[in-house]
Amino acid sequence: MTDTPPKRGLARNTANYGDPDFALYLRRSFAKSMGYSQAMLDKPVVGIVDTGSDYNNCHRTVPDLIEAVKRGVLAAGGLPLAFPTVSLCEPSLFPTSMHYRNLAAIDTEAMLTAQPMDAAVLVGGCDKTVPAQLMAAASADIPAVQLVTGPMLATSFQGERLAACTDCRRYWAGYRAGTVTQERIGQIEGRLATTAGTCGVMGTASTMACVAEALGMVPLGHGSIPAVHADRLRAAEEAGALAVHLIEHPIRPSEIMTPEAVENALRVLLALGGSTNALIHLTAIAGRLGIKIDLHRLNVLSDSTPVLVDLQPTGEGYMEDFHAAGGMHALLWELRELLHLDCRDVTGMQLKDRLAKPEFVDRRYIRAFNEPVSPVGGIVSLFGSLAPRGAILKRSAATPSLFETEARAVVFDGLEDLANRIDDPALDVTKDDILVLKNAGSLTPAGMPEAGYLPIPSKLARAGIKDMVRMSDCRMSGTAFGTIVLHITPEAAAGGPLGLVESGDRIRLSVKQRSLDLLVDEATLAKRRAAWAPPPKPGRGWDRLIAEQVLQADEGCDLAIMRPAAE
Ligand code: FES
Repeated sequence: MTDTPPKRGLARNTANYGDPDFALYLRRSFAKSMGYSQAMLDKPVVGIVDTGSDYNNCHRTVPDLIEAVKRGVLAAGGLPLAFPTVSLCEPSLFPTSMHYRNLAAIDTEAMLTAQPMDAAVLVGGCDKTVPAQLMAAASADIPAVQLVTGPMLATSFQGERLAACTDCRRYWAGYRAGTVTQERIGQIEGRLATTAGTCGVMGTASTMACVAEALGMVPLGHGSIPAVHADRLRAAEEAGALAVHLIEHPIRPSEIMTPEAVENALRVLLALGGSTNALIHLTAIAGRLGIKIDLHRLNVLSDSTPVLVDLQPTGEGYMEDFHAAGGMHALLWELRELLHLDCRDVTGMQLKDRLAKPEFVDRRYIRAFNEPVSPVGGIVSLFGSLAPRGAILKRSAATPSLFETEARAVVFDGLEDLANRIDDPALDVTKDDILVLKNAGSLTPAGMPEAGYLPIPSKLARAGIKDMVRMSDCRMSGTAFGTIVLHITPEAAAGGPLGLVESGDRIRLSVKQRSLDLLVDEATLAKRRAAWAPPPKPGRGWDRLIAEQVLQADEGCDLAIMRPAAE
C-alpha cells in the first residue's frame, strides 16, 4: 500500500462539506473567479500576512512590500496569496495597543491554520505586530518568514537630528518644564516622523526586529534595513523566495525558536540596551512553545552580557546608524562567545556558519565586546515583598545615583488619579520620593499602558528635576528613559502587594541586591488586604475575555487558553 502524499497548496484544509473532493472542486472554481489559471492553482501556496492599514503609519510601505514578496514567491514557483489581519499602531489605539496584541495573535494564528497555505510570510513592524505574528507562527507551527517594515530615517532639522520617539519625549519633557515654547513644540511635531517606517530608535519595534533576527525568524541582516531603502524591497523579495524554499525544505518555527535561540535573543536584548517591552513579548512567544523565561536567569545573563549598542534612548544613534554600522551581524559577532551557535535560522543555516567571519563594523554605534557601552546588560529583574514574582528595571536608561533608594511613596490609584493630581501645585511630593502608580496592569481596563514613565510633577520639573524613582504594574515605551521599575508582578488588580501600598509608606529599591521591598509591617498589610476587593470585570466582549484570561507579565501577558494544551 502506498502512502497518500501530504496535501499541498489549495488542497490543504478544505472546508467541511462532508465531501473533501467537492470542497476542493468548489474552492478551485471560486478561486478561478479571481482569474487564476489551473497551472497557478496547482502551485504550492505562500500566504502573506497583510497588516497594511490607514491607521498604521509604521505599515505605510506594506503594499509595496507585499508586491515584492509576491515577486519573490512567483519567481520561485509558488502562488502568493495575501490576506489581511488585525493591524496595530501604537498611537492609534485606545486604551493601548498592548490590549490588542493577543487579538492580533489569535487572528493571525487562526488565518494561518484555517486557510490553505504551505508556508507564510509575516509582514509587520509596529511594536505589537511582530510579537503577535511570532506568537501566531509559534502556535500554528507552519514554515514562516518574518518580514519587518523597517525603521524610519532620522531628519536633520535646524542643526539636530530628530526621529520618533525618544526625541518626542525629550521635547515634551522640555515643554512641560517650560524650557520649550508652544511654537517650538508645534514645529517639532512635524519633524519627528518624516519618513515611512517604525520608530527610528532602539524602541520596542526595533528591539523586536533584532530579537526576531536573533531568534532566527528574520534572515540575518534584514531586520534593521530602513523602511525606505531599496534593500528593504529586495529583502521582501528574498522573503518570498525563502518561503517557497521552506516548502521543499521545511523548518518549522518550533525548530527555530528553541530554548537556545530564546536565550540568544535574551542576550541580544540585553546587549542592545533594548526595550523592556521586548521581554514581555519574548516571554509570550517562547511561552507558546512551552519555553519559560526565568527572571532569575535573566539576571545571570544580564550580569554577563555587556551593552554594546549605542543608540537612543540609552545612547546617541538612530536605527539607520545601527544598520550602517553592521547591524545584527556585527552585534552577534561581538557576542559570539556567549551564544548558542548551533541554532538554525529560517534559511536553515546555523549561526556558526552565519558568523564564519567578521564583517564591517562602525564602532561609534556597535562597540567591541571588551570596550562596551556598559559591562553589564541593560535590564535587570527585581524581587521582594513588593514584587513576589518579579519586576524589571532598565538600568541602562536609569540614573545610577538612584539605584539604591529608600524613600517615601507618593501613590496614584490609577491613570485618572495620576492625571488629576500629578501637576497639582498642592501635591505633597519632593524629588526624593518614589512615585507609585497602581491599577494599570494587564487585568485593568487601562490595558497595561506605557504609562510607567510617570511624568515628573511639573513643580519639580520646573525646578530642574529630570529623574525620580518611579514604579508601577504597567509598561514603559521602549523609547523612554529614567529610573523606572516596571511590570510589578502580581499586578495590583490581581491582588499583588502593590495594591496595598499607600502614600507615606516606605519602599526600598536596591539594584545591587536586585530587590524591591515594601517596608510596612505584616499586621498593617493584613488589614489593608482584608479591605481590598478586586476590580469589577467588564460585562462582555474582548475586554471581558482579557479580564478572565490574561496572564501576568512574567508569563508574557498571553491569554491562558492560547498556551500549549499540555500546560
Ligand atoms: Fe509604530 Fe513606534 S509607533 S514603531
